[in-house]
Amino acid sequence: MSSTDSHSTPIFSGPAPAHIGIIMDGNGRWAKQRGLNRSEGHRQGVENLRRVLEAAGEFGVKTLTVYAFSTENWSRPIAEVRFLLRIIDYYIDRELQALNERGVQLRHIGDMSALSKRLQQKIQRAIEQTQHNEKLILNVAFNYGGRAEVVQAIRRIIEEGLPPEQVTEQVVSSYLYTAGQPDPDLIIRTGGEMRLSNFLMWQATYAEYYSTPTYWPDFDREELRKAIEHYTARDRRFGGVKETHDTK
Ligand code: FPP
Repeated sequence: MSSTDSHSTPIFSGPAPAHIGIIMDGNGRWAKQRGLNRSEGHRQGVENLRRVLEAAGEFGVKTLTVYAFSTENWSRPIAEVRFLLRIIDYYIDRELQALNERGVQLRHIGDMSALSKRLQQKIQRAIEQTQHNEKLILNVAFNYGGRAEVVQAIRRIIEEGLPPEQVTEQVVSSYLYTAGQPDPDLIIRTGGEMRLSNFLMWQATYAEYYSTPTYWPDFDREELRKAIEHYTARDRRFGGVKETHDTK
């Protein structure tokens, strides 16, 4: 049986990425193609996250960071913004039990203060209820923006009075929402665009980038496998040269 039609862990040509970031784009277009409301596309997006989480776990991915609501999404029509704000609520109601059953630890990255107190408490409770799960970390980027994240880090560094010479890259990283987590190895964007859109801009500096025209609700296990295969075939040098190169 080939690695693509079995549900056993596929054999990649190198180690699978430990941390994958996903820009889940194309829900609206997926819905439009079918004559449905955009909100139906987002609902299918939630369903798909469950499938992708499961596949990621199977492929040995340890951290998945998904872009669910960006600081720029507030400029969408008010009805859609309201729907997107409800979607995290809906996600927790629908998926919390499955997250616990599958050993997934839920975390939030972004600015919670713009959310209602009730929603903040609900997210906080879900985080606490999954905090001991160890198979996979799911970071949900909700009201997240990479620049805003760096700005809040700078503000806290100044407030805490750190002397300038102590402000290193490691220190800045430790003030980000992702403090203590490894940087993403691979960023996947569905829906065909080739932009980072303010997602993990500090953390993704050395990540490999993979874009597919497939809309998020259709991005399945096989698509994830292809993205990982693409990643494992690349030659990551982190700005250096390969040891086997003649460097003389
Ligand atoms: C972009 O599609 C996608 C979003 C704004 C994210 C919506 C939410 C989910 C996928 C569900 C997961 C949510 C949580 C809270 C875990 P788009 O509307 O920009 O699509 P388009 O480019 O086709 O219009």
